[in-house]
Amino acid sequence: MRKLLVIGIGAGNPEHMTVQAINGLNQADVLFIPDKGARKSDLAELRRQICDRFVTNPKSRRVEFDVPVRAEPTSSYRVTVDDWHEAIAEIYEGLIRDELDENGCGAFLIWGDPSLYDSALRILERVGLKGNVGFKLEVIPGITAIQALAASHATALNRMGDCILVTTGRRLIEEGLPANVGSTVVMLDGKCAFNTLTDQDVFIQWGAYLGTPDEIILSGRLGDVGAEIEKVREENRRKKGWIMDIYLLRKPGKPEE
Ligand SMILES: C[S@@+](CC[C@H](N)C(=O)[O-])C[C@H]1O[C@@H](n2cnc3c(N)ncnc32)[C@H](O)[C@@H]1O
Repeated sequence: MRKLLVIGIGAGNPEHMTVQAINGLNQADVLFIPDKGARKSDLAELRRQICDRFVTNPKSRRVEFDVPVRAEPTSSYRVTVDDWHEAIAEIYEGLIRDELDENGCGAFLIWGDPSLYDSALRILERVGLKGNVGFKLEVIPGITAIQALAASHATALNRMGDCILVTTGRRLIEEGLPANVGSTVVMLDGKCAFNTLTDQDVFIQWGAYLGTPDEIILSGRLGDVGAEIEKVREENRRKKGWIMDIYLLRKPGKPEE
C-alpha cells in the first residue's frame, strides 16, 4: 500500500525542521511541493531550500504542483472553501495515483504544523473516502507560527492558570475578545482586526515573517502601537507582495479566575 507522510516543516526557519521531519523527508520517494502562485513563491522557495539542505536520499524526486486559488466567498464561506478543497482533493488524488508506485512513499511538506489552520489532512481524508486510491497516512509534527511568535517575544503564551484562545482575524472582528479568555492568538488576519477592539489598553505582541531573515516583531499597548503595526504591515506587504503575521492579545490586569 502507498504511504503518505504529512510533514510539518516549521514556520519559516529551515532550522525548525525536527530530526523526525528530516528522517521523514529522506524516507519518501516523492516530495510534493505546492506552488501557490507568484505572490507566495517565497514560500515554495523555502520548501526547496529545506529539500536542498536536508534531503540526502538520492532516489527521491520532487514534484511541484499548482494549488488552485480560492474564489472570493460569495453566498457562503463554507461552500466556497468546500469547492476549493474538492478541487485540491482531485489534484492530490492524481498525484498519489500517478506519481507513486503501489508501495511508494510520498511526502507533503506542510507549513508549520499540519494540525493548525491547514487543510491538507482534511483534504487527504476526503481523497481516502472517495476510495479511488488507497494509502496509509503518517503525520510528523512541526513548529507552529504560534510557537515562533512566543519564542521571538520570549514570552509564555498563557499567564498562570489562564486559558488560551486561538482564533482568526475574521472571528476577532465578529466576536471581539471573549471576557473569560486570558490570552488570544490571532492568525489569518489580513485586515488588522486588532484595530476594531475598543479597549486600547490591551497588550499586543505582533510578529511577521517569523523565523525568516525578514522577521519583524513589535509589541506594546494597543493604543500606543496599533497604528504603527498597521503601517509597518502595509509597507512590508507592498514591498514583498505578501505578508504572514500573527499576534497575541492580552487584556490588562491579572488573569480572571
Ligand atoms: C494557513 S495558516 C498556517 C499555519 C501553520 N500550519 C502553522 O502551524 O503555523 C497561515 C497563518 O499562520 C500564521 N503564520 C504562519 N507562518 C508565519 C510566520 N512565519 N510569521 C508570522 N505568521 C505566520 C499567519 O497568521 C498566517 O496567516
